[in-house]
Amino acid sequence: MNRAALIQSVIGLGPSWEARPGWFEQHPAALNRPPETLVAIDIEPEASLAPPRQDAVTSPQPDVPLVPPPGVDIAPPVLPPLPQVQASPLLEWDALERAVRDCRDCRLCQTRTQTVFGRGNKQARWLLIGEAPGEQEDKQGQPFVGRAGQLLDNMLSATGLDRDRDVYIANVLKCRPPGNRNPSGDEIATCQNYLIQQIRHIQPTLILALGRFAAQTLLQTEKGIGQLRGKLHSYQDIPLIVSYHPAYLLRNQPDKHKAWQDLIFAKKTFGRLSAD
Ligand code: URA
Repeated sequence: MNRAALIQSVIGLGPSWEARPGWFEQHPAALNRPPETLVAIDIEPEASLAPPRQDAVTSPQPDVPLVPPPGVDIAPPVLPPLPQVQASPLLEWDALERAVRDCRDCRLCQTRTQTVFGRGNKQARWLLIGEAPGEQEDKQGQPFVGRAGQLLDNMLSATGLDRDRDVYIANVLKCRPPGNRNPSGDEIATCQNYLIQQIRHIQPTLILALGRFAAQTLLQTEKGIGQLRGKLHSYQDIPLIVSYHPAYLLRNQPDKHKAWQDLIFAKKTFGRLSAD
């Protein structure tokens, strides 16, 4: 008899009631109770598994706070797994351009007019990554020169960024998929080494991934833009922000304000990273 039961029997109270094993769990009230509501915590599992890093991305300085634009949820920076790409020897920039120009590694070489390597300042601190050349880009050999490109240029200049001086713009695919269809997984896999080499050369302060193909390729995730935007990610230790693709914005004008929020977030993040 335990101490509480002894005291109870001494003062004349009946035997203390003790639940049989499993009584609570098997009680009808417990069985009918809806499952406990889980509070969603917006941290990707990899983030908690990754070792803490001491770099600027993972250690925002408290005295220079990141101020999220209204309605933008900023979760702690996430550290997605790095793309499983064998580190191939880094080609010189010119050799890389030639390799892209002469590439015949996938079916897209049969339908392209020409490859589209990238444009802008390769010393730029901002790297913008789109999806793939469209019709105009395929004709002119330059990324983002069609309607989506005009919108992108307008958004950049509204942010105070000059498209030739302040940014470099590249795509995940260097060749146009026929009829502007979505890139396929094998085309992305075949082409991604070119993009990775471009990133290694440029070493930008900030990557802006435009659209889900750029975001999913660099972050190796299947999450959609809605889940990825508004957060500071990183690709190979380079801070990365996700936003909508300008072509999507042309079709979905109401989402333009969200893209604008993303640009403000990116600008503030860039300012803080440059001050570090
Ligand atoms: N869309 C893209 O993703 N890239 C371009 O270069 C043009 C349109």
